[in-house]
Amino acid sequence: MSALPAALLPADAREELSRWDPHPAPGEVEVLARPGSAPARIVVVGIGDGSGSELRAAGAALARSATGARLTVAIEGSSALLEGIALGSYRFDRKSSQSRGSTPQLREVRLLGIGEEALRRGQAVSAAVLWARDLTNTPAMLKTPDWLARQAVDVLTPLGVDVEARDVEWLAANRFGGVLAVGAGSDAPPRFIEARWRPRRASGHVVLVGKGITFDTGGLNIKPGSNMRLMHTDMAGGAAALGALRIAAELALPTAVTVLVPAAQNSVSGSAMRPSDVIRHYGGRTSEVLNTDAEGRLVLADALAYAAARLKPDVMIDIATLTGAAKVALGLRTGGLFTDDDDLARALADAGAAVDEPLWRLPLLQEYAPLIESDVADGNNAAGNPGATTAALFLRPFTGGLPWAHLDIAGPGRSPDESGFLTQGATGFGVRLLWQWLSARVGP
Ligand code: BES
Ligand code: MN
Ligand code: ZN
Repeated sequence: MSALPAALLPADAREELSRWDPHPAPGEVEVLARPGSAPARIVVVGIGDGSGSELRAAGAALARSATGARLTVAIEGSSALLEGIALGSYRFDRKSSQSRGSTPQLREVRLLGIGEEALRRGQAVSAAVLWARDLTNTPAMLKTPDWLARQAVDVLTPLGVDVEARDVEWLAANRFGGVLAVGAGSDAPPRFIEARWRPRRASGHVVLVGKGITFDTGGLNIKPGSNMRLMHTDMAGGAAALGALRIAAELALPTAVTVLVPAAQNSVSGSAMRPSDVIRHYGGRTSEVLNTDAEGRLVLADALAYAAARLKPDVMIDIATLTGAAKVALGLRTGGLFTDDDDLARALADAGAAVDEPLWRLPLLQEYAPLIESDVADGNNAAGNPGATTAALFLRPFTGGLPWAHLDIAGPGRSPDESGFLTQGATGFGVRLLWQWLSARVGP
């Protein structure tokens, strides 16, 4: 009982607690019903060793135990508990009985004893994750590339982020052949989102590139229905990058960060790109299209080449729901990590572990590089197995030799069910890991 900040509770509740003396296991809740008095129930949740991980799980468990009610939480100092409450109580629906948008599952949350700094961090982080989830869960009939770009403008501009949404004319003038080819089959034209956070005294410059496929039918290599159904979430990487940038701006990260989201809808029509087409990417490298369903790498290639040539950052990270193969290899909880830079690999894996967004490094071996060769172009977009690795190898030549890592989040980008701080649908995976990595780079 000594770990419980009981002093924060009202006197009558404190007395009740001392008689009750609950000891729930980590993440488990015990509920004391108090009919006729306020608070109506006292919920005690186990926080194990009090680590961020335990606190997030505890927050989610608390939120679920109090669905529809007001929740007052006594906690000393942590933003992780607040994150758990916010993430665990999220739900996305458009039921006619509800007000539009995501539905808060708690009527009110009051936090007692949380420090101002922890509150600020917890709120910024939670809001960004929920934003990424909302963007990702939004149906593609609404979520065109232009809609996605406007969301970025509307949300990030007031935070001091400079957002540009480049249109097809700009893409054509600047020869973004990958984005144009993937977007060519859709009536909703592609966009190239560039969002810049520029603090006054910046130390370093990071570029985050997020896949922004607003719907992936597979193109002419059309997906079977069961594989297509969830493909409105194929911009989860773009949402994660935008979410991390939102936190950077809200908490005034002293590092320059640029987020690039090549956004396109991969559709089927008479103007869609074909297998056998040859694409000329930004900067001139060409790709043979062996499979129109390997579209993500085609749009990322343009963005990485543009970043390397024009932005020249210290380091680039791309994040993408890129391959079913990554999902097969790593399952639904772990992101694939590819890089030639051991220090960067360690820093990203550490960041992921710290916030319960685990990454697992997969090979980017030179021995496999011949697989992406083509007779007619500089590379081919569907080299086969190992599928997650050949996708990463396809991207590497576009990075201009800059420090670079590729995160494949095809598995953890969405969750089939509720579990801990995950809710059904988009997870926002990557927002907190990228933010953790960005803030750890600056130091405490
Ligand atoms: N968006 C998919 C990958 C994906 C699959 C994400 C399942 C989330 C869940 C991607 O564009 C794709 O279709 N990749 C192909 C590549 C293949 C044709 C080389 C794949 O993985 O099958
Ligand atoms: Mn695809
Ligand atoms: Zn895709």
